[in-house]
Amino acid sequence: ILSLPREKGWRTSYLYLFQGFWCQLKEIEAIHSFQKHFQAKDSDVLVATVPKSGTTWLKALTFAIVNRQHCSSFNKNHPLLTSNPHDLVPFFEYTVYGRHDKVPNLSNMCEPRIFGTHIPFASLPDSIKESNCKIIYICRNPFDTFVSSWFFVNKIKPKSLPTLALEEAFEMYCKGIVGFGPFWTHMLGYWKESIDRPNKVLFLKYENLKEDLNSHLKRVAEFLNCPFTLKEESDGVIENIIKVCSFETMKELEINKSGTFGRNFENRFLFRKGEIGDWVNYLSPSMVEKLSKVIEEKLGGSGLSFRVN
Ligand code: A3P
Repeated sequence: ILSLPREKGWRTSYLYLFQGFWCQLKEIEAIHSFQKHFQAKDSDVLVATVPKSGTTWLKALTFAIVNRQHCSSFNKNHPLLTSNPHDLVPFFEYTVYGRHDKVPNLSNMCEPRIFGTHIPFASLPDSIKESNCKIIYICRNPFDTFVSSWFFVNKIKPKSLPTLALEEAFEMYCKGIVGFGPFWTHMLGYWKESIDRPNKVLFLKYENLKEDLNSHLKRVAEFLNCPFTLKEESDGVIENIIKVCSFETMKELEINKSGTFGRNFENRFLFRKGEIGDWVNYLSPSMVEKLSKVIEEKLGGSGLSFRVN
């Protein structure tokens, strides 16, 4: 832990700066254990994301591509129709290393193993960086990501804490004080790696997936060295994956209406609107100006840009 935040406020009551990113105290132990013990296999697939940028969706899509034997038709028994994506693709920092006193034995997991993480690239264990395992990263325009995270934080907060005001959350976000943030460091870490090692990190954007999911699924499948065959394409496998993983399908599933994940978060909190540009309903012109400046200052010149509506 490098330092504790000085600002008074809601979020700072539980976020700590650890290895250059903000996280909760209870996550630090799990991250340490992950860094110390995890041994990557070349066949592993890692879904890495900034929180609230499409993690649930990308986990579902990746799982569906890798396990697409279930998708030759719209199979009612598809695992994604009965399980939440976070149960099928566990987070290192919450589930795999976050729930156990002992180091978990992962050797029995079916291969390819698919894991999720919000941990910045720089803090991933060397075994991930040095092996041939694959990382699929997704980010989203910071305006929508901020609004999504503000709603989420207020839904999952302990009842004892007051509602986090939009303005307070916004000031923190612009300073980079948000789970696994600053968002710019997070994005740039994976962005640079995807440029230097395109076979290692595939960098995706939520907005691009919304625009043309079909071609992105082909990109992901090729990146994972399991491209769709012509027969699979003509059999409608890609369309079935899109349907199983769509916001509309997932939001209405019984498991996502009533189930829980992680530390008893309700699955339904993961599905709010699933749109591009909802931020216009919440951010004032001065907030838009401020966040635009932060984005320009921190990401300008990196080649990273976003569609915002
Ligand atoms: P909104 O709050 O803007 O609606 P994460 O999975 O990283 O927590 O991100 C959550 C955001 O992704 C939420 O955005 C949520 O509604 C959206 N989302 C969840 N499932 C989705 C899906 N299948 N397709 C598109 N967006 C989805």
